Amino acid sequence: MEPIAFSYSDIHKTVAELAERIQASGFAPEAIVAIGSGGYIPARIMKTYLLVPIYTVGISLYLEDKTTLPSPRKIQWLDEVEKKLTGKRILLIDEVDDSRTTLEYCIRELLRHQPAKLGVAVLHNKQKEKKGVIPGEVAAYWAGRELPNAWIKYPWDAVEIDVHELNARNQEQPTAL
Ligand code: G4P
Ligand code: MG
Repeated sequence: MEPIAFSYSDIHKTVAELAERIQASGFAPEAIVAIGSGGYIPARIMKTYLLVPIYTVGISLYLEDKTTLPSPRKIQWLDEVEKKLTGKRILLIDEVDDSRTTLEYCIRELLRHQPAKLGVAVLHNKQKEKKGVIPGEVAAYWAGRELPNAWIKYPWDAVEIDVHELNARNQEQPTAL
């Protein structure tokens, strides 16, 4: 399947729509936790709409040479800050729900700090068989777009941003699932 490219503008609009759905649900997060690095930019855009602070965690499932680790590894975690999450309504943000391995790992780690409520928002959910699960303690899950199981090209990975943005605009729009 052909890769699907999204422009910065596409992503901003997807986050705006997600923010609307989150607000309409009555969830009212008090803080955002961004899963780095893919979740950083979506989380920052979300802050424009939800006006709450962002905390970040760095997790990787792959090494530099692209070999997969047996389980996700913390590159950076919340330490002192995590105490501030206890008793709060938290919105966890990542760019893509792919295998769900990283997502499940982060959710379980955050749940240990007993947030009042934990919601999860991703820009894109790939419709495929998942290795991880969204634990039942998660109050709500939102995906900005449902996509087929193709490789997604994000603007922040582009070395030539003008070429990326042009490709994103000129490609056939991915069919909504
Ligand atoms: P999940 O729990 O959110 O489903 O993530 P999973 O562990 O399956 O994904 C492992 C890594 O692969 C993540 O990056 C994720 O961002 C990346 N990934 C998965 N599918 C795509 C895709 O279609 N396009 C792009 N560009 N990346 C994808 P990571 O190892 O956590 O690092 P980072 O890239 O976020 O820094
Ligand atoms: Mg990621």
